[in-house]
Amino acid sequence: MKLDAHKLRTDFPIFEQTFHGKPLAFLDSAASSQKPRQVLDAMTHFYETSYANVHRGVYQLAERATQGLEDAREKARAFVNASSAREIIFVRNATEALNLVAYSWGLNNLGPGDLVLVTELEHHSNFVPWQYVARRTGAELALIPVDDQGELRLDGLDAYDNVKVVASGLVSNALGTVNDSAALAAWAHERGAIYVCDAAQAAPHVRVDVQALGADFVAVSGHKMLGPSGIGFLWGRADLLLRMEPFLMGGHMIRKVSAGETTWGELPAKFEAGTSPMAEAVGLGAAIDYLESVGLEAIEQHEHRLAAYALDQLSEIPGVTLYGPPPDRRAGIVSFNVDGVHPHDVAQVLDEDAVCIRAGHHCCQPLMAKLGVAATNRASFYLYTIPEEIDRLAAGVRRSRELFL
Ligand SMILES: Cc1ncc(COP(=O)(O)O)c(C=O)c1O
Repeated sequence: MKLDAHKLRTDFPIFEQTFHGKPLAFLDSAASSQKPRQVLDAMTHFYETSYANVHRGVYQLAERATQGLEDAREKARAFVNASSAREIIFVRNATEALNLVAYSWGLNNLGPGDLVLVTELEHHSNFVPWQYVARRTGAELALIPVDDQGELRLDGLDAYDNVKVVASGLVSNALGTVNDSAALAAWAHERGAIYVCDAAQAAPHVRVDVQALGADFVAVSGHKMLGPSGIGFLWGRADLLLRMEPFLMGGHMIRKVSAGETTWGELPAKFEAGTSPMAEAVGLGAAIDYLESVGLEAIEQHEHRLAAYALDQLSEIPGVTLYGPPPDRRAGIVSFNVDGVHPHDVAQVLDEDAVCIRAGHHCCQPLMAKLGVAATNRASFYLYTIPEEIDRLAAGVRRSRELFL
């Protein structure tokens, strides 16, 4: 069950470099993860041996390229335990997946008197599209609040009426909170609502099983889970996807086009207009293979240990405020502030030690407003993170206090 982060790091070429003369401590994996050689090699191999446009050509090379894309779809299906590969829609990223649902489902199924419930923890990607679609359709938008530890308060749920959509993340990118998405899905279904799960921050770190979750839609970004940028996927229930209008129009998504009318293609083509991100899909498939070979359970436990260690180290530093739940209910993400030192200054001091963290609102401005801050520092861990890097984080935070206070 235990992974060897020191050994895994040797698969990641980025760690062969130094910054400011020091080895790289990359503690910003929640923003985007680094890539192992296996992913880079799979993409290079695809470009060198199998590249052509997919789903179009009848020649052998095009068939090989199409096979590469469809093999990746099957890997994504198995990764989230979907019952059919036609329920896996390749998109650019989780943001596009969530916009697809908001536009294609929301615009056609919401109206005045309906309620869309999101949460105070939401990333803007699962917030702004719903706010926009609610405004366009005359529906209301309400926010499930968080408590002082940054955990969702589900005790007040029954006060909401006419709920049509419940949309939440499974893991918060700002605080690391792990939400009870299965409970939210069950509650939504009791009311005849759909449940939309943003798993962008969950899929890289914990096992996401769409059937066990009971969700209707699940959004995933490839670049956060060792894959390349420019690819992610939406899983959706086939019965819902079949009844939805397409999101983007153009090539590949049609059945028949005439001057008077266009009919739509089958799933998943109906939602995959234009040339597919085929090399990126091959890279994502290789990332899934890599994650499965390490084991999602081992990754989750490794990150739990690192989060507990980081919370311990940082809590010993005077003037540090930590946000979010206890380590057993959070992923490998630690958000904090240093009294009297702006987060950007903390991050800059850390950069001098080649420690990369994120400072800002983390695309969660409603949550920052709730916490009463404009920004936090965020350190986020992955399978290649080692405890020594957390020691360097703590040392840098101490140094930022010495410099600025
Ligand atoms: C929880 C969560 N949702 C959605 C997103 C958006 O992901 P992307 O930028 O890949 O679309 C992110 C990225 O930070 C995230 O952390």
